[in-house]
Amino acid sequence: MSVLSGKKVLLAVTAGIAAYKTAHLVRLFIKSGAEVKVIMTPASKDFITPLTLSTLSKNPVHSTFYEKDEENELWNNHVELGLWADIMLIAPATANTLSKMTNGTCDNLVLATYLSAKCPVYFAPAMDLDMYKHPSTKNSLEALQSFGNCMIPATSGELASGLVGEGRMAEPEDIVEFIEKDIASKLPLRGKKILITAGPTYEAIDPVRFIGNHSSGKMGFEIAKTAANLGAEVILISGPSFQKATHSLIHRVDVKSAEDMYQACHTYYAEVDVAILSAAVADYRPKNVANQKIKKKDTALTIELEPTKDILKSLGENKKHQLLVGFALETNNELENAKSKIERKNLDLIVLNSLRDKGAGFATDTNKITIIDADFNQKEFELKSKSEVSKDIINEIIHKLHA
Ligand code: CTP
Repeated sequence: MSVLSGKKVLLAVTAGIAAYKTAHLVRLFIKSGAEVKVIMTPASKDFITPLTLSTLSKNPVHSTFYEKDEENELWNNHVELGLWADIMLIAPATANTLSKMTNGTCDNLVLATYLSAKCPVYFAPAMDLDMYKHPSTKNSLEALQSFGNCMIPATSGELASGLVGEGRMAEPEDIVEFIEKDIASKLPLRGKKILITAGPTYEAIDPVRFIGNHSSGKMGFEIAKTAANLGAEVILISGPSFQKATHSLIHRVDVKSAEDMYQACHTYYAEVDVAILSAAVADYRPKNVANQKIKKKDTALTIELEPTKDILKSLGENKKHQLLVGFALETNNELENAKSKIERKNLDLIVLNSLRDKGAGFATDTNKITIIDADFNQKEFELKSKSEVSKDIINEIIHKLHA
């Protein structure tokens, strides 16, 4: 999955011949899963039509501060557009636009939006070779980068003038790759490896029956997705679950029983920076597993249970450099129980959810959590979707990693 997936990309087209390539650029962004809006300088419409870019981006394309239809005059709010975007890309960026951007000139929608944008801004210069070489252009390129904008350098090759030299806009594929790499290099969990357990465990009674629980795995899978989206390499050790993990940075390891999960966790533990144990592991398992299916009888059936290994505790005992995060699902004395778990299991953080809170716990799409650290500082969060909750958990972890 591309790091651009789900990102809002604002493409600003200015009046260079390379504008014809922006149709392909829009398609590439859409293919990477981004949402795209396009704005244009009035003169750029001579090089490519707004209709083309609007059709490809599936959004209206604006080039003026206001537009008239039969009934209304509509204001195209540059501030809103600038705030909407996660990324702004000016491509092609002509010498004229670069110079105006440098000086804060604001005489069209593209320039006003650029000045309003709070997101990272990329620009891909495109012009003839002598224009590109000109000291005033060089000044603009340097100044714009010193303002924090990111340049996607022009390349050398045949130019529209027939001359050969530097000034060609980078190819659309290269622009998208440049932005993807730049985003990936700045992700807060890049270079970190995180082990996550998720889902229930099944403890066999006989070849066809087991003791399990209602955990869906959703919370753990959401945490895995959030961590991977922020650049972490994730080892997701999952009990039986219908959840799907499609992110290329998630390596899924399927297990069944608590013992399988214990073994898998210890296989990977030494190499990870963080371990988050959100699985609902069975505390007991049948002492003897029948080889054959147990036949029905008229008398009561007693199954003797023995404790499973406490995975979280064993990781706490073997903790070296790792940040260890446990979960606690409680029904009473929530805070005391959670704090005692932090000490008993040598944790850095515990995520507490109470079954007394409506919408928290198993098999729901929401959760309400309190995060407590080893000094017993606690942070309570509102009831949220599990996807949002996973972001709160990962944010706390990032905070701790940088503390
Ligand atoms: N856990 C584990 N291995 C087990 C049982 C639990 O790793 N055999 C982990 C869970 O993934 C969770 C944490 O321990 O992160 C808390 O589990 P919980 O069952 O609430 O705690 P217990 O230690 O079993 O304590 P209690 O039953 O008293 O609540």
